[in-house]
Parts: sequence; C-alpha cells; structure tokens
Amino acid sequence: AEVTCPKGDKVNEKVVLCTDPAGGKIPCPPTSTDQIIDFKPERMVKRIRQPAHLLSRENQEKYKEALAKMKALPRDNPLSFVEQAAIHEAYCDGHYRFDPTNKDNPFDVHFSWIFGPWHRMYIYFYERALGQLIGDDTFALPFWNWDHPSGMVVPPIFRDAAANPLFDANRNMANMDKLCDLDYLTSLAKGPVIVPFDENPKSDQYKELVYSNLAIMHQQQIRGGKGARAFLGEKFCTAASEKAAGFTPGELQSKKTKAQGTLERMAHTTLHVWAGRRLPAGTACNASTGGVLGHDGTYKCSNDMGFLGSAGRDPLFYSHHANVDRMWHIWSTKLGGHGFPDPEWLDTSFVFWDNVENPQRVRIKFRDVLNAANLGYTYDKESEKDLPWIKVDL
Ligand code: C2O
Repeated sequence: AEVTCPKGDKVNEKVVLCTDPAGGKIPCPPTSTDQIIDFKPERMVKRIRQPAHLLSRENQEKYKEALAKMKALPRDNPLSFVEQAAIHEAYCDGHYRFDPTNKDNPFDVHFSWIFGPWHRMYIYFYERALGQLIGDDTFALPFWNWDHPSGMVVPPIFRDAAANPLFDANRNMANMDKLCDLDYLTSLAKGPVIVPFDENPKSDQYKELVYSNLAIMHQQQIRGGKGARAFLGEKFCTAASEKAAGFTPGELQSKKTKAQGTLERMAHTTLHVWAGRRLPAGTACNASTGGVLGHDGTYKCSNDMGFLGSAGRDPLFYSHHANVDRMWHIWSTKLGGHGFPDPEWLDTSFVFWDNVENPQRVRIKFRDVLNAANLGYTYDKESEKDLPWIKVDL
C-alpha cells in the first residue's frame, strides 16, 4: 500500500520551534531578531560545479583556503563551519518541533518531498559563504561524481590527511580508497565486496560492481524515478494532519523508506553509510569510544557521515550532496522530470544565513530553487555528456 499524506503540509520557519532539551550540549543554530530579507534570484550563472576528482590544482587550493577560513571563523558567526554543521544537525535530529512540548513530533528535512529543495538551499548558502571568504564569486562546490566509474571512490582531495581542511578522521578508513558499492546496505549482510579502486580495471569482479552501481543509478534516476513522488518523495505530513486523517501521529513519516524518493533512498543513503565511521561491533558507544551524542541524549555508534546528526561535520558531506543535487538537476532538465505543482510544496520556505562578513537572514522558497540558474550555479557540461547509467541494460 502506498503511504500518502492526506494533505501536504506547508512548512515554514514560523511553525518550527527550536528547543534544546539536551541541556545546551547540542547547540541551536544562532537566531536573531533582525529583519529577514527575501531571497532575490542571482542575475548571472557564475559558478560551475566540477567533478571533485578532476578539479584543477588551482581550484583544489581555493577550496582548501576557503574552508580553512570558514573553520577559523568564530563560533558566533552563523556561517562558521561548526554552525553550518549544527544547522544540518538541528534539522534532522529532533531539534525542531511543531509542538515544543511533544518530543514525538519532531520536524525533519529528510524522509519527504522537503529533502531535495532543502539540501539544495543548504549547500547553496555554504558555497556562497566560501566564495565570499576568498573574495571569489565564481567559487563553485566540487561534486563527488559517484555516478561515473571514474568517480566511484572518495575523491583524493578529501583523503589526504596532512594539514587538509577537507579531511575528516571520522570516516570508515577501510573504504576510502575502494570502489564504492552503491548496494552496500544489501552487501553488508552478505559480507560486502570490497575492491581497491582502479583506473583501468581488469578483473570481472570489479567490472561487475561497476555495472551493479550503474544499474542502481539507472533505477534511481529513470526506472524507479518516474514522477515527482517516486523521485522526490511523498508529501510532508505533520502529526496533526495525520491525526485528522485517522492515522497515528508520526505513522506516515516514520515509514521512512516509503516516504523517501529514490533521490534520497538509494545512492545518497548508501554512501552516507559507506563513508561514515562505525564503531566495531560490541563496543560501547559513548564519548570516549567516539560515539556521537544525539539529540535524544543517547550516543550513536556511527559518526560523521554515518549519522545524519553529525554528517555536516565532514566536508565530504557537501560534495556528496552536490552530486545528489546534480542528480536532481539532471532529472529535471535532461530527463524531463517535473517537481510538484502543489502550492504547499512551492511555497514552503526556510530561513538561512547569508553574507559571511555581516550575516543576515534570508527567506527562500522551494519555488526559488527549482532552477539552479536562479541560484547562480550550474554543473559542468562535460560531466553530463555521456552519462554512463542512462543506457544501462537492466
Ligand atoms: Cu541531510 Cu545526506 O542528508
């Protein structure tokens, strides 16, 4: 049976409340009483996002310089790296609620039609801030090109541990130089196939895994992604409207895998798990063993990329999401996909911080971000030419 919210719920910053029951251990993103300004589309496309593994030396250095500056910003700057990560944490780990008194009714930007547009907005403001920090408005976030055989490995610029702001120690180091497995969640149960990444693969095992990855991409983007609901996810449902329709509050949203679109559920989720560090089975998960404190007050056994609450702490997250975003971009341009016509979706708005020098809040709606050109960026044309998963024969 299909899971459908009886009526899409419009979400905006007004109904979302920040509470901090973990007693200040997990910070709320900074708030302000200053005026919120409305987003204005950018006039020109100046930023061309490139595949991270093909990034020129010069652009690699730019990204490192910008991120080092972002990491050096004081904590009270909402565009500091710590605060950037806290925004993602707040929006996915029970920090915001519709009803501040009811912890069973949290607000989350995952598991519904909010996923695509919210993450597009989030990395857009991250990218802008980085450009502002190095005075370069052409600075573009590189993407992790995991849908192409040559990009099916964590990009080298993130792996070099020496004085590299793009490095994060909380990753699954055993997987770092290996060929990605987009079916990792299934393979885990059988004992995953782990093969070193290779530019000129010869083994059958290697070729089979590449083929399986391309088949998954084809399924995500084409066969299983027909129409907005299948690709972008189900309508967002508040507990109140679930209740009004006779469901137990939380019932629809908790059926996570059913409410997620293929964009979120497939390569995206798998690579979070692939890249994140998991504490060895049998380890107690707490602060000293490297567990991450969730908003519910319990420690998680997976960290950075492997747990949504901490994912934004790994710089790899933003390049991972740039490719998720690119998959949506390709779906809605080349593949002819259309978003939802529903005003509840189009008018959903969020408030983000912009302008790293003098931070101010900007209200931006889903309808503002449906076309990447409005946000002043696009994706490298070369990387869209021969998409290897388009014609995979299933
Ligand atoms: Cu907000 Cu990849 O998750």
